[in-house]
Amino acid sequence: MFEAGIYQKRRESLRQKVSSGILLFPGNNESSMNYAANTYHYRQDSNFLYFFGLDSAGIAGICDADTGIDTIYGDDIEIDDIIWMGEQPKISDRAAKVGVKQVKSFKNLQQDLKEALSKGRKVHILPPYRGDTVIQLKELLSTNVDKVKDFVSQELIKAVVALREIKDEGEIKEIEFAVDIAYKMHTTAMKMAFPGTWEREVAGMVEGVSLANGAAVSFPVILSMDGQTLHNHYHGNMLKEGRLMVTDAGSESPLHYASDITRTSPVGGKFDQRQKEIYEIVLKANMEAIKASAPGILNRDVHFKAAEIIAGGLKDLGLMKGDVKEAVKAGAHALFFPHGLGHMMGLDVHDMEGLGENNVGYNETIKRSTQFGTAYLRMAKELKPGMVMTIEPGLYFIPALIDLWKSEGKYKDFINFEKVESYKDFGGVRIEDDILITSKGCRVLGKAIPKTVEEVEGVMNDV
Ligand code: GLY
Ligand code: MN
Ligand code: MN
Repeated sequence: MFEAGIYQKRRESLRQKVSSGILLFPGNNESSMNYAANTYHYRQDSNFLYFFGLDSAGIAGICDADTGIDTIYGDDIEIDDIIWMGEQPKISDRAAKVGVKQVKSFKNLQQDLKEALSKGRKVHILPPYRGDTVIQLKELLSTNVDKVKDFVSQELIKAVVALREIKDEGEIKEIEFAVDIAYKMHTTAMKMAFPGTWEREVAGMVEGVSLANGAAVSFPVILSMDGQTLHNHYHGNMLKEGRLMVTDAGSESPLHYASDITRTSPVGGKFDQRQKEIYEIVLKANMEAIKASAPGILNRDVHFKAAEIIAGGLKDLGLMKGDVKEAVKAGAHALFFPHGLGHMMGLDVHDMEGLGENNVGYNETIKRSTQFGTAYLRMAKELKPGMVMTIEPGLYFIPALIDLWKSEGKYKDFINFEKVESYKDFGGVRIEDDILITSKGCRVLGKAIPKTVEEVEGVMNDV
């Protein structure tokens, strides 16, 4: 946990940004897998963690924007739970650690909210993303399930985004801790990417490294030699010579800050010529995008820069043709790079995505594109010091998409479909790093994870 003053300051800043009313933060509850007592790994809600820091189920927090009083609603555990879980600190002692003096039993929350609503006070909530939270809110707010959304407050969303998008030193330390675990996860994966090994063996080991370092993964491991499928969670193939293994995996720090790293390894330990050519294009896009990321720059422009490098590289290989800038403007590059350059990262791997991507990555002036590919860009707005971003260009040969566009004659002035045909067995490449926007530019977070051809082959061959 950070020191109490950090949480107090965050809640104070939040109160200053919201005009009036009650800001309600329900913590997450346990979630059952296959019967009530057999629960999934517990994960606290990130907004609750940010403002109230307590990492367990059955708690809610309130910031009162009018009185300036913060309250935690929760209960001490009783003897039955002590027998199964061991002794736990008192809720009042835990609340003190995050600078909250007022603690009430959870059963008071419904009544307190009822009273506030009856006095005509506004209750602000963030968009709930779990069914059980919606049901809990329905009870707490004495309303119907389909009316819970009426309490979602755009004012509160905006205030939370403005605070959470700028990371302080303590948060950066946490993220770097998570990236350093990812270093171990990814070098482990590289060393295992040899023919005859099952993807599930590598994926299991990668997740195990995360757990063994004290933290769960920040999202389910994406690992496959079918890297052309962007988020491939199927790990049932045996690795084969000639394929590229895409590993997209990250960990969480003790305070639940994420890392999100992708590396691509040649199965067998050596890139062949064709793989090297494609890999170098993605690497250049990754490194140039990092160089271009700085305060005052629109992330959308960094995305387009990466797209132009990809289109330019593909043109050099004869896979694309025509004017590179025109091709990117038209959206032709999206056949090979059908996703955005990256997203914010923090307590969530896609930071604050639960508050709505358009509320996080877009604003009044920067609106989301409707063009295929660019429309998937999660964050387009201006970069500011303190933002943490992922830089994750990729280049993929997706047979179904190639066949579709070819049959539609789409972008035939920019794409050499005949040559592309011979890459349908290629798979994909993605290279992802996590960066901090600084006052002048940016820096890559954590221990540098091997990413040049020489570095990756070096790790794989114990050089
Ligand atoms: N790990 C998912 C992503 O890179 O967005
Ligand atoms: Mn990723
Ligand atoms: Mn990512």
